[in-house]
Amino acid sequence: MHSWRTPAALAALLALASTGSAVQNVSRSGRYLYNADGSRFFIKGVAYQPQGEVIVDPNNPFGEPSTFIDPLANGTACARDLPFLQQLQINAIRAYSVNASLDHDDCMNALSNAGIYTIIDLSLPVNGSINRDQPAWTTNLLDLYIDTINVFNKYNNVLAFNVGNEVINGTDNTVAAAFVKAAARDTRAYLNSIGSSALVGYAAIDGDWIVDLAEYLSCDPSGSNSGSTSIDLWGLNNYEWCGNADPSVYNATNQRFQNYNIPAYFSEFGCAIGGPRPWTEVGTLFTSPMSDIWSGGLGFSYFPASSAAGQFGMVNISADGSTVTTGQDFDNLKTQYTEVSPPNSPSQSSAGSTSFPSCPAENTNLLASTTLPPTPNDAACACLESALSCQFTPDTSNTTSIIGVLINEACSLLGAQGGSCDDISGNGTSGVYGRVSACDPSVELSYVMSEYYEATNRLATSCSFGGNGTVNANTPSGLSASAAASSCLANPSATFTPSAPSGSGAAAPGSSGSSGSSGSKDNGAAGFALNPQAWLGLAVSCAFSLLGGALVLA
Ligand SMILES: *[C@@H]1O[C@H](CO)[C@@H](O)[C@H](O)[C@H]1NC(C)=O
Ligand SMILES: *[C@@H]1O[C@H](CO)[C@@H](O)[C@H](O)[C@H]1NC(C)=O
Ligand SMILES: *[C@@H]1O[C@H](CO)[C@@H](O)[C@H](O)[C@H]1NC(C)=O
Ligand SMILES: *[C@@H]1O[C@H](CO)[C@@H](O)[C@H](O)[C@H]1NC(C)=O
Ligand SMILES: *[C@@H]1O[C@H](CO)[C@@H](O)[C@H](O)[C@H]1NC(C)=O
Ligand SMILES: *[C@@H]1O[C@H](CO)[C@@H](O)[C@H](O)[C@H]1NC(C)=O
Ligand SMILES: *[C@@H]1O[C@H](CO)[C@@H](O)[C@H](O)[C@H]1NC(C)=O
Ligand SMILES: *[C@@H]1O[C@H](CO)[C@@H](O)[C@H](O)[C@H]1NC(C)=O
Ligand SMILES: *[C@@H]1O[C@H](CO)[C@@H](O)[C@H](O)[C@H]1NC(C)=O
Ligand SMILES: *[C@@H]1O[C@H](CO)[C@@H](O)[C@H](O)[C@H]1NC(C)=O
Repeated sequence: MHSWRTPAALAALLALASTGSAVQNVSRSGRYLYNADGSRFFIKGVAYQPQGEVIVDPNNPFGEPSTFIDPLANGTACARDLPFLQQLQINAIRAYSVNASLDHDDCMNALSNAGIYTIIDLSLPVNGSINRDQPAWTTNLLDLYIDTINVFNKYNNVLAFNVGNEVINGTDNTVAAAFVKAAARDTRAYLNSIGSSALVGYAAIDGDWIVDLAEYLSCDPSGSNSGSTSIDLWGLNNYEWCGNADPSVYNATNQRFQNYNIPAYFSEFGCAIGGPRPWTEVGTLFTSPMSDIWSGGLGFSYFPASSAAGQFGMVNISADGSTVTTGQDFDNLKTQYTEVSPPNSPSQSSAGSTSFPSCPAENTNLLASTTLPPTPNDAACACLESALSCQFTPDTSNTTSIIGVLINEACSLLGAQGGSCDDISGNGTSGVYGRVSACDPSVELSYVMSEYYEATNRLATSCSFGGNGTVNANTPSGLSASAAASSCLANPSATFTPSAPSGSGAAAPGSSGSSGSSGSKDNGAAGFALNPQAWLGLAVSCAFSLLGGALVLA
């Protein structure tokens, strides 16, 4: 009756217990997440990102952080924090800004051994993210994303890579969704090509209009139930529950996501209005009916993070970085998380496979076309750059702030000559993308500088741009920028599986082209207007652009 297998099973259990709980492969079925053993997986975690430093500068009109700390690159700091993360009983953290040049082994392995998954944002502050005001999906961003994926691919505890955080932050910039969806498509294709089953996520700011965005990011434009342009995991940064609220505060939100097709969770939660947070929403979030709609959430934030909406930290770190002091918020969340026992239902087999419906029609809440931007093409853009007659050759490596100014200047000079900047512009509402619009902004700048230079009969002074331009002696005689684009970008609307940029760590057979190396065409550009949109009720959400990755100023 007592099988000989029992002691072995017990030993296995004990081994698991003594090493902490080893992480299992988590995958999506239907609209839920499951462990490899078929049990349902809920994200029970915290945001783990020290707040970046905001440097007041005219080139930083929105006061976005100019610096960031990679929270997964310092093994000493992670070892310091790990016991506290374990006290919270979490199984996931979210890191908003990581640096692919750094070594993440110590932190990632320590987290993995403690059964803690990571959700990694691929975007970076200032120019490493899709810019909501002048959205584009370009080689420099794709290469940044791929470099980060390559560095984290070796770890077994990456649950998801986020392709954006709060990029679309109101109904006046939903056009940016087309570029986010293209980023999800290309990131998914790249992950598939390297055999990664990490999920592709997006984290959204809350608002009445976001259901259209959620549906758009998880829809199939081709109407054939394909997930190839879909995210796998919808994150909602939700701050509706303040203090000891009543579960009904979530009624509208639940209703809006009741029939959503993919897994969804609260990628941030924890309203800080009114002092220490009781975190009583946890009990509601992790039980039915919410557990039928949501797969858990991430409390915001382990580290101190302050904004007009309050102080969000659960701990303080001593000035020398050696000690952690927990606050009431920490104790309360620990109590709540310890009591969580979400239902293990529905079963994975009854969850079925995920369906990908047709896309919502454009409307005032969603001005995004189902014609997506192309896959940025490193090789084609490098080919173009080398052939252009007038090249951007800045004196400084700090080009972010000058590219936007120079593009505006070159476009206006070109316009006066009867030319246009259509080739470098993309419109996610009309679904019309200029053939150079997925190249690095520095290549786009060289392109319009060349067009202007050529339009003025190659007058040497037309390529100066205050000392920022140099005539390319290697351009085949008489080759125009436009002809070079036709030749290098023969199929400018193509979508394909991107490969790793050359020079990046990963083996990438067949990869070619150069990695993007310059700034963005926006910062400080004329015609770049502040949007002082007041957001009643959701003002707290704005706080999170203070964090490293919440940044969309490209
Ligand atoms: C994780 O599970 C998914 C779905 O079952 C599977 O496709 C994938 O290969 C698994 N990944 C790993 C690393 O085992
Ligand atoms: C990443 O780290 C490297 C090495 O410390 C540093 O040179 C580089 O500036 C960092 N990148 C970013 C985007 O901060
Ligand atoms: C909220 O939803 C619950 C459960 O679905 C329901 O019982 C309750 O009446 C709703 N409350 C409000 C204020 O709509
Ligand atoms: C790593 O973190 C520890 C603890 O905060 C700190 O003392 C140390 O200076 C950090 N190391 C680096 C390279 O930032
Ligand atoms: C961190 O320190 C600040 C300043 O002393 C204090 O106001 C805040 O309550 C502390 N936070 C925690 C979580 O202890
Ligand atoms: C880059 O240039 C801008 C504008 O000149 C300046 O404000 C900023 O401090 C520079 N950044 C760095 C890292 O040098
Ligand atoms: C951001 O700008 C800096 C130079 O100012 C550049 O080195 C870096 O590659 C840019 N990042 C991206 C993703 O374009
Ligand atoms: C993009 O296209 C839409 C629809 O054709 C148009 O209304 C809008 O003005 C265009 N946007 C820009 C910036 O040209
Ligand atoms: C390059 O362009 C910037 C922006 O217009 C300008 O400030 C700078 O003086 C120009 N020349 C050089 C050599 O950087
Ligand atoms: C959206 O972002 C812009 C900056 O790009 C900011 O000025 C605005 O306040 C943000 N809106 C909300 C609702 O957060």
